[in-house]
Amino acid sequence: MNEGGGPLLGQRLPHVLYGGDYNPDQWPEEVWPEDVRLMGEAGVNLVSLGIFAWSRLEPTAGKFDFDWLDRIMNMLHEGGVSVDLATATASPPPWLSHAHPEMLPVLADGVRLWPGGRQHYCPSSPVYRDATKRLVEALATRYAKHPALAMWHVGNEYACHVPACFCDVSAAAFRGWLKQRYGSLEGLNKAWGTDFWSQRYSTWEEILPPRRTPTWPNPSQQLDFMRFSSDELLECYEIERRILNERTPGVPVTTNFMRFFKPLDYWKWAEREDIVSDDVYQDPLDPEAGMRAAMAGDLMRSLGRGRPWILMEQTPNRVNWRDVNAAKAPGQMRLWSLQAVARGADGVMFFQWRQSRAGAEKHHSAMVPHGPLQTSPTWREVVQLGGELRGLDAVCGSRIKADVAILLDWESWWALELPSKPSNRVQQIEQLEAFYRPLFQANVTADFARPGDDLSGYKLVVAPSVYLVSDEAAANLASYVEAGGNLVMSFFSGIVDPAEHIRLGGYPQPFVKMLGLQVIDWLPLGPGEVRLVRFGDGSTARGEVWSELIEVESAEVLATFIDSTLSGRPAVTLNRFGAGSAQYVGTHLDASALAVSLKAAWTRAGVKPVIDVPAGVEAVRRTLVDGSLLFLMNHSDAAVEVITAGGSVRLNGGDAATDGRVRLGPRDVAILHQSEVASPV
Ligand code: GLA
Repeated sequence: MNEGGGPLLGQRLPHVLYGGDYNPDQWPEEVWPEDVRLMGEAGVNLVSLGIFAWSRLEPTAGKFDFDWLDRIMNMLHEGGVSVDLATATASPPPWLSHAHPEMLPVLADGVRLWPGGRQHYCPSSPVYRDATKRLVEALATRYAKHPALAMWHVGNEYACHVPACFCDVSAAAFRGWLKQRYGSLEGLNKAWGTDFWSQRYSTWEEILPPRRTPTWPNPSQQLDFMRFSSDELLECYEIERRILNERTPGVPVTTNFMRFFKPLDYWKWAEREDIVSDDVYQDPLDPEAGMRAAMAGDLMRSLGRGRPWILMEQTPNRVNWRDVNAAKAPGQMRLWSLQAVARGADGVMFFQWRQSRAGAEKHHSAMVPHGPLQTSPTWREVVQLGGELRGLDAVCGSRIKADVAILLDWESWWALELPSKPSNRVQQIEQLEAFYRPLFQANVTADFARPGDDLSGYKLVVAPSVYLVSDEAAANLASYVEAGGNLVMSFFSGIVDPAEHIRLGGYPQPFVKMLGLQVIDWLPLGPGEVRLVRFGDGSTARGEVWSELIEVESAEVLATFIDSTLSGRPAVTLNRFGAGSAQYVGTHLDASALAVSLKAAWTRAGVKPVIDVPAGVEAVRRTLVDGSLLFLMNHSDAAVEVITAGGSVRLNGGDAATDGRVRLGPRDVAILHQSEVASPV
């Protein structure tokens, strides 16, 4: 039995979910029985059906054709495959935009985006919204009782092509959103600091989205427009979800996320999903692809507040949308699939089931490739993985315990990367990765959290350049430390409030007492520019991207700059605050120095790695009531041996690990059932 909740889709599908996007509407019906037969062979138990099928489901306005969908739903059910039924609203049919060209989205510079691709709709368009309502109502009514229906897949990758629309309809909606937020024009003028550059508004009608301007548009306006655009798309999702909840209560609803996707505040979105799902397309040419996928997995688990999530899309082999679409090495697809499971996924799905013959994605790989299956390594791996996942029912519903939280706040990310800053080289995801990297390499499991969340369950909290904080979030961080928590905060944190106004009183004003220092000035560094830093033990490090003039008050200095005008001034500090500690890092330390410094912080906080393993091996533990599942993943091209606690049972083939030794080939994965949670190193 697992801790925390059982299988994602309940007893109807008490297995790891396995399958992919299925677009039978692209194929003659004669192919369908073969599809279902092959799904059986591959162990597929769930497909995301008809994601782009609107023009087949509603060939002309208000005339629905569900006969073909009935036939394939029935066929899938008979073949033992459940359906994650799409609402099909991601690509409006030609008749809709032809009749209503005003529903097409407009860019900041006035360019209208035309049909012929997908996602060509203005999120605020009443035409689009009404049409989606009609379609979803018809679908939900028709399939409410269908035995194949297991979950709903709303839209698809919201905002992936069109994160915001700047048309007149959107402008009116933006004004409505602003009225709600500020109540009065005076409130808006104050929040947007409109006395700067003569921007004071005298009526609501004067307010526009931040369209293309001669120079930077008002930053507070831009930030509000990002909030609005995320909310506006969320409302599109909500319109559909409300209908589905009403017509099919109990059937879970999801929409697929895209890892660290800037335009949408996924914390807000995830609250409206029954199951978080994610699309992960690592580049096989990226040497850090494994780390990046782990980080995405940790984010998805955290967005769902620890609940299992679904890897909704990945590619079996090549994609088609990079300049060079590298093939996955043998075993890489299996490794990255099981890695998602290790990080909390209870479902492993692909884009897509059968490789398209026509259209823009015909060169994108699929579970069933164009060529003969007998000779296809992709198909062989797909079948093998399906078989392997069938033996992993034990993972379903199990949780992951992390002692470290990394803070990520979408509003702060948006604000940090608005233009006209001391440096545009401070990028949120790079800063997150800098801190995530050493944790990943040492196999210290981390969650992501918002600065305002209850952090009391974490021994260590890492705050990489959290530029914007609300009063409440700032107080929350201070009380976390005061109560005994350990915080590591990096430069350019706590600088502005939610209106993107500077917090006066000395940088970083809300954290001055907690950190025991003041930042007197920022000295950003250009590309290739380096500041040397020396730690107390004599070791030296490189600081890049950023440096600053720090004046300590109560903080102890852990490292100082040793060159430039900053020579002798603090670079890294530690302050005891209440019962806890707050470390501050005033530059972007090189990777090995940051690893040492962060390790000291997690050790001080009593955090331990999952297990000590050779470099290149990733280890994650999913907790069961009667022990745990230890995932060991070899990301390297060489065979390695891992020493684990004895008494483990290897769940997924390979040598048993009774003597505690586990051999892993290149890109190999071992999953060990350990009845006692072995005490970490
Ligand atoms: C996204 C989309 C899919 C498909 C894939 C191709 O994830 O959701 O429809 O276009 O990309 O990689």
